[in-house]
Amino acid sequence: MPLEERVGRIAAWAELAEDEAKALGGAMGLSLTRADQMIENVVGLYSLPLGIAVNFVVNGRDVLAPMVVEEPSVVAGASFAAKLARAGGGFRATATAPEMIGQLQVLDVTDPWSARLDLLATRDELLSLANESDPVIVELGGGARDLEARVIEYTPAGPMLVVHLIFDCRDAMGANAVNTACESLAPRIEQITGGRVLLRILSNLADRRLARARCTVPVEALAYGDFAGEQVAQGIIEAYALAAADPYRAATHNKGIMNGVDPIVIATGNDWRAVEAGAHAYAARSGRYTSLSTWARDAEGNLAGTLEMPLAVGTVGGATRVHPTAQVALKILGARTARELAETIVSVGLAQNLAALRALATEGIQRGHMRLHARQVAVAAGAAGDEVTQVVERMVAEGRVRPDRAETILAEMRNEQL
Ligand code: MEV
Repeated sequence: MPLEERVGRIAAWAELAEDEAKALGGAMGLSLTRADQMIENVVGLYSLPLGIAVNFVVNGRDVLAPMVVEEPSVVAGASFAAKLARAGGGFRATATAPEMIGQLQVLDVTDPWSARLDLLATRDELLSLANESDPVIVELGGGARDLEARVIEYTPAGPMLVVHLIFDCRDAMGANAVNTACESLAPRIEQITGGRVLLRILSNLADRRLARARCTVPVEALAYGDFAGEQVAQGIIEAYALAAADPYRAATHNKGIMNGVDPIVIATGNDWRAVEAGAHAYAARSGRYTSLSTWARDAEGNLAGTLEMPLAVGTVGGATRVHPTAQVALKILGARTARELAETIVSVGLAQNLAALRALATEGIQRGHMRLHARQVAVAAGAAGDEVTQVVERMVAEGRVRPDRAETILAEMRNEQL
């Protein structure tokens, strides 16, 4: 579809108001004044493409996924894999309670083991104290849930006590709520332990706030060109096996998953560095960095994929509410809660992983990627309007997608026109 028609279809699907549709085009999006209220020393705005991944069914619901990303092939890959998963009923996703962990580091404790028990004995009092720091979240059904205390015997600064406050953030990402609650507990924890509290900050290893997705793809749906479905399924499982066993491959494999995750996290105004940190720390939780996803054959012979990862994302608070385009992205997604948002994000992560593995296990990543990449190369070489398609077609036909070649072709084309 031409660009304007696409915007029109999305606006109709998501029932966007005129201003909201304009926010997509950038006209009514983030203003300089608003940006100046978001961070410090603002001197401008920086734009990225916002695309829509299609074909997703998540828990029986048709979903359009807004993705903010600079890399060609990502949106196409997610949409293609979603179509494969759709043939098996789409994605089934769940998310655990939105519980974050806040850490307090307690130093200079004479007997950390006894202090640990003193803290656990005061659990209820400490949880009530933490709740006083955010009555709104408590009213919404969230707040302090539990308290854990660990002694870490060997650190470069000697033994220390680490207290974990488990805090349910409801629909917020929760960094502010958790950090405030931790800070409010510090004086009382110093009293109880006789120690000195230094750090009071959430952990990005949000392993109590997990999102999980699964999909099954009928093997016939994987058939492609000269590749039989069986062969593709086997190739995907063998490709996954290397990521499961080898950190060098696991890093790239998980990067492919994050190609699906980050663009929605960014589109919805969430903290993608937090999500990245959580994902990779979770992938290393056994002590050896490994794949976040799994691929196998199910009892019926279908290809079955799963993905489990921490996803600390919110639909309220922070930039989600301040950035006008983030609001529109949330509306397009139709996610009513942080949980639903996480369920869609983890599904798109799994789809992106499937798209990459399928390409890698068959014709390789470059063939499909090159045509899309060629557009960026042509534009970077100075091609404009219709020239872009012509330069792309010639580079792809020649099998030479390179900046120098784009410049030469462009110069030749322009000369011919003189
Ligand atoms: C490129 O952005 C992502 C891939 O490298 C992922 C993978 O290798 O699985 C294609």
